[in-house]
Amino acid sequence: MASATHASASKTQIVRPARGFRGSLTLPGDKSISHRYAMLAGFASGTSRLTNFSTGADPHSSLACMEALGAKSVLEGATIAVTGNGGAMQQPKGDLDCGNSGSTMRMLAGLVASQKGTYRFVGDESLTVRPMERIRKPLEAMGAKVDLTEGHAPMVVHGGGLKAIDFEAPIASAQVKTAVLFAGLGASGTTSFAESVRTRDHSEHALRAFGVELERRGERVYIEGGQKLKAVDMTVPGDMSSAAFFLCAALLYEDSNLVLDLLGMNPTRATLLDAISAMGGSIKVLDVQEHHGEMSGTIQVQRGFGGFKGMDISGTLSAQLIDELPVIAAIGPYSQNGIRIRDAKELRVKESDRIALVMKNLRAMGAEVIEHEDGMDVPGGQRLHGGVIDSGLDHRIAMAFSIAALRAEGETEIQGADAASISFPEFFDRLDELAIR
Ligand code: S3P
Repeated sequence: MASATHASASKTQIVRPARGFRGSLTLPGDKSISHRYAMLAGFASGTSRLTNFSTGADPHSSLACMEALGAKSVLEGATIAVTGNGGAMQQPKGDLDCGNSGSTMRMLAGLVASQKGTYRFVGDESLTVRPMERIRKPLEAMGAKVDLTEGHAPMVVHGGGLKAIDFEAPIASAQVKTAVLFAGLGASGTTSFAESVRTRDHSEHALRAFGVELERRGERVYIEGGQKLKAVDMTVPGDMSSAAFFLCAALLYEDSNLVLDLLGMNPTRATLLDAISAMGGSIKVLDVQEHHGEMSGTIQVQRGFGGFKGMDISGTLSAQLIDELPVIAAIGPYSQNGIRIRDAKELRVKESDRIALVMKNLRAMGAEVIEHEDGMDVPGGQRLHGGVIDSGLDHRIAMAFSIAALRAEGETEIQGADAASISFPEFFDRLDELAIR
């Protein structure tokens, strides 16, 4: 049913300024959670029913790869029914095409590493320059063989015969953690992974949901090999990183008012809500619920009386806000005190070099900014004009500058705007509904 989608440069979107920003919405399912459920449901015994699965192309790349590995997925109304391969990966007929999705490539490499066989992973142009050495190290320490092309994809994993390791994360990465835990599932012995920065823990919750026992002691997570997965039903909460665009838009208007329901509020992702509050947003949590360890709820966001203040972001905060930094920086010129970002070198190896592109596009809109190797300074109190934006075929850049465009003078042209479909195909429709013109 699923097929991998590649970012393409075909569409240009014009974004006009708006007078206000108000309304309510439900976000499509979280991209990170959808990836994990696609992979684990595809590897489990039985049929899992996934409701509100991400509409983004990336998690569909994960589904497509799992189909190539013997899983089946069928759309049943708003639910995707995934029948797993029962823990035995089928040898794929061709390459595993991950499209634009680093999550698919890194996490799935862990899952296939314990399986006897050879798996060749490919992706689009952007994915082909992203660092894969970070997963090669632990997977080879466990006994797999991983061939890279100058540190990147195409990547071939020769799996089977894994032994448990105790691994210390050299960088803050939930994808690396997931690759190691997924490999640990099929290794002999107990694998452990230690991280000094607490990264998103969707894999830990998802593994438990599928019946796997794992333990966290302090900074370290332990997983015993040889455990089998059983199918589950899940309603995927709305994506906080997609909500980020609209939460940032709410900071730009005195009388903004947004209500978001079924929004994922996992504490390892909800740092964004603290950041929005610190920058001057006023957030009310109207209700919270929990399903398979994932919290979700309804929130109301308005701009507080103090206006949009700005913020300094560094250290662990940068790691926890990594996906939201482009949009926070893009609206920085409109803040009172500016946005200062440090310790965010990882931004340079995302779907694009997000530091370079944020700088380039802010300058195209008339802002003065200073680039740093690991971040940027975006002074506040600046007026922007509409400009031509280069998305670099990066979904988060396309969406971030559509939000900056709301308060610019004149229209903004977003080139390669359809990259938004990688995580949020409905973005421009929702933007039009919420922006008051
Ligand atoms: C993700 C982890 C982060 C994030 C990415 C999704 C995940 O990447 O930037 O968009 O789902 O685990 P890293 O693990 O490379 O930090």
